[in-house]
Amino acid sequence: MSTQFQWGVATAAYQIEGAAAEAGRGPSIWDTFSHTLGKTQNGDTGDVACDHYHRWQEDVDHIASLEVDAYRFSIAWPRVQPLGSGAWNPAGLDFYDRLVDGLLAKGIQPHVTLYHWDLPQALQDRGGWAARDTAQRFAEYAAVMGRRLGDRLATLATHNEPWCTAVLGHGTGKFAPGYADMALAAQVSHHLLVSHGLAMAALRAESVRCPLGIVLNHSSVTPATDSPADQALARTEYAQFVRWFMDPIFRGRYPVDPGIQHYPKMAEGDMALIQAPLDFLGVNFYARIWASTAVPPVPAPRVLGVTDMGWEIYPQGLYDLLTGLHAQYKLPPVYITENGMAHADVLTDGQVDDEPRIDYVRRHLDVLAAAREQGVDLRGYFYWSLMDNYEWDSGYAKRFGLLHVDYNTQKRTPKRSAHWYREVVRQCRALAAAQGSGHG
Ligand code: FCB
Repeated sequence: MSTQFQWGVATAAYQIEGAAAEAGRGPSIWDTFSHTLGKTQNGDTGDVACDHYHRWQEDVDHIASLEVDAYRFSIAWPRVQPLGSGAWNPAGLDFYDRLVDGLLAKGIQPHVTLYHWDLPQALQDRGGWAARDTAQRFAEYAAVMGRRLGDRLATLATHNEPWCTAVLGHGTGKFAPGYADMALAAQVSHHLLVSHGLAMAALRAESVRCPLGIVLNHSSVTPATDSPADQALARTEYAQFVRWFMDPIFRGRYPVDPGIQHYPKMAEGDMALIQAPLDFLGVNFYARIWASTAVPPVPAPRVLGVTDMGWEIYPQGLYDLLTGLHAQYKLPPVYITENGMAHADVLTDGQVDDEPRIDYVRRHLDVLAAAREQGVDLRGYFYWSLMDNYEWDSGYAKRFGLLHVDYNTQKRTPKRSAHWYREVVRQCRALAAAQGSGHG
């Protein structure tokens, strides 16, 4: 893997593509969920989203004009294999072929994620991630995509944020498929990890040449006070959020913590599969977890405020997280595969002045530099997101993009943060060139 630090932007299929029922795409659990009354804000769906399926060339041009090195996106499984097993959809496969080639033609490195939450509905009808067999289906899908695209990708990740699929999808019901059963969530998390392990094995068997890994959403955890109860809660939160996925992958076991209530059923050999060595780890970071046992809870200080999602702005958490992970695990090269801020942006006279977003990113980049100095092998940073898009159950109400999207006209307008980000990329590149190394 090149040691060059890559600057990028990220998206995910269901959040931008639209064309939900076009060119042979099968329905996904997010189509079903978003079309179910009361599940998403304003009943918003990804039917059209940013219409990226039709406008991908324009979007590649936008990415190029940001002068970034890399673009992270996901493949919609139901677009390439409409039922999640059996027949492949040539139009879907061609779409991603063209996208990858279009990016490469502009000198942009493609970083692909295989699963960013849009399970084919047909697989859900057969049990979804609650059924162990789905892990086999996923490995087959991974192998086909690896064979098809692997020689042209910068990295290939199996899952995006399996915690969200497991807990928000099956434990709280906030996300598709919408179950609220924490024991089920634990079982699903295990099946996701097994699917990751099976996919890694299948991709290695295909001799896929690009680095292989997984993308996890992580947070640092702060106890609200020094009380033993808050400290214990903080340990449990860290175990459930961070160690729940890191320990199986890097240590071959689930974390043991008195606060953890549900452990999954496992089959022999699962941990060996899950422990398959990674070429890279993707870390998504947005906020810290604040652990308070008081009723009502002691609020987080929120010194730097909150984003439009209500998430505390706490860049120090990214430093704490990365240096902590570096001390606790033998990490492969790490990419920050997502980091960004929702802001109530307003387009005025063709401009969006999103100074708070610039401040958010600047502060996170500062702590990344400090983490690198502490020895964390960071290889890239992807801003979430390239453009405003369908923010899951929040619909179109939350804007994370560097590009503003007018959903009536689909016009993209670079925000002030887009111009600022390009400047950051330019300056880091110039600095790296002056230092004669690939490091930004
Ligand atoms: C992450 C998701 C991504 C986006 C951001 C805001 O959890 O991976 O799709 O929704 O949050």
